[in-house]
Amino acid sequence: MTATYSYLLFILLGIFLFCYLVATRSWIKADEKNKQLSPEKDKHSRRDFLYLSSISIGSVGTAAFIWPFLKSMNPAEDTLALGSTEVDLSDISVGQSKTVKWRGKPIFIRRRTQEEISEANSVDVAVLRDPVNDKDRIQKEEWLVLEGICTHLGCVPLGQKMTDTKGEYNGWFCPCHGSHYDTSGRIRKGPAPDNLAVPPYQFISDTIIKIG
Ligand code: FES
Repeated sequence: MTATYSYLLFILLGIFLFCYLVATRSWIKADEKNKQLSPEKDKHSRRDFLYLSSISIGSVGTAAFIWPFLKSMNPAEDTLALGSTEVDLSDISVGQSKTVKWRGKPIFIRRRTQEEISEANSVDVAVLRDPVNDKDRIQKEEWLVLEGICTHLGCVPLGQKMTDTKGEYNGWFCPCHGSHYDTSGRIRKGPAPDNLAVPPYQFISDTIIKIG
């Protein structure tokens, strides 16, 4: 039982007891008056009071019982934190890459050279299997942010390390079945059906992105 829940339960019980005492006091006064006026009316008054008391007790009991369940339906703070991640780009030099984890997935971040940017823009989009312009996959020319999961069967492609083979299109190469991706992460050769996915992200400063 958390401290918050204990406090709320305590407050609820306090409110209930206060209401109950006020109602009881009012009822005793009304009861004495009714006894003098009419015995039949007195019966109704007792029944109404018992009815209201039962509802009150039931409501407080139900609220105290379901509160922990409602609370448990909210995502925990550590779960919310996993929903997004901030990445400092300042330590990535031109031509280098960085891999981070987001929701259990590898995220590829590459700081592209001018040559890589030119390669990505020189492609005739019409001939691509999954035709998308480079400018529609980026927010800043220099930075490419991708989910590092091959769209064929989910292997993690090579190309992040300087020593990795980058495939025939100088992007990433998936060794599982031979898919080649270009410098925009678009599928160019091999069995993968789609481009490497672009995760949701935003620049929150010149050198920090928030993914998710
Ligand atoms: S999983 Fe990448 S080519 Fe098959």
